[in-house]
Amino acid sequence: MKLLVINGPNLNLLGVREPELYGKQDYAALVRLVEETCAAEGIQVEVYQSNHEGDLVDRIQAAYGVVDGIVINPAAYTHTSVAILDALKAVAIPAVEVHISDVSKREDFRQVSYAGMACVKTYMGLGLEGYRQAILYLKDHLSGR
Ligand code: DQA
Repeated sequence: MKLLVINGPNLNLLGVREPELYGKQDYAALVRLVEETCAAEGIQVEVYQSNHEGDLVDRIQAAYGVVDGIVINPAAYTHTSVAILDALKAVAIPAVEVHISDVSKREDFRQVSYAGMACVKTYMGLGLEGYRQAILYLKDHLSGR
């Protein structure tokens, strides 16, 4: 099983960026958590981050026929990007949405998730643990459990 974990803009600044919302752990810690979780589950994984919407679309398109599942935190593009929604729908790879913070309790403009409309499940407000939960869920989902 091969998974792709995609992170959108400003998530490379984890640890520095609004730690009261996103925690004190940095992006390297997130990559470590994802890699360790996948290694323990016998899953191959690639972790990708970009601050650019088109790059995120390109990476989703490149996953077609190569990757079994996608974990995606589109960050701010969650609330604006029809292009990322369309890319997820185009490749039709089972995807799980993750948000570190609980977006449901934040500003009105964060209440729409375009990417989420193409995802089988969403985890929010669990910090980095949400990524671990998303990986475990996708593994079960892809195994037909
Ligand atoms: C986020 C929530 C988004 O609203 C925000 O723009 C982010 C991070 C989260 O992980 O909680 O950049 O996706």
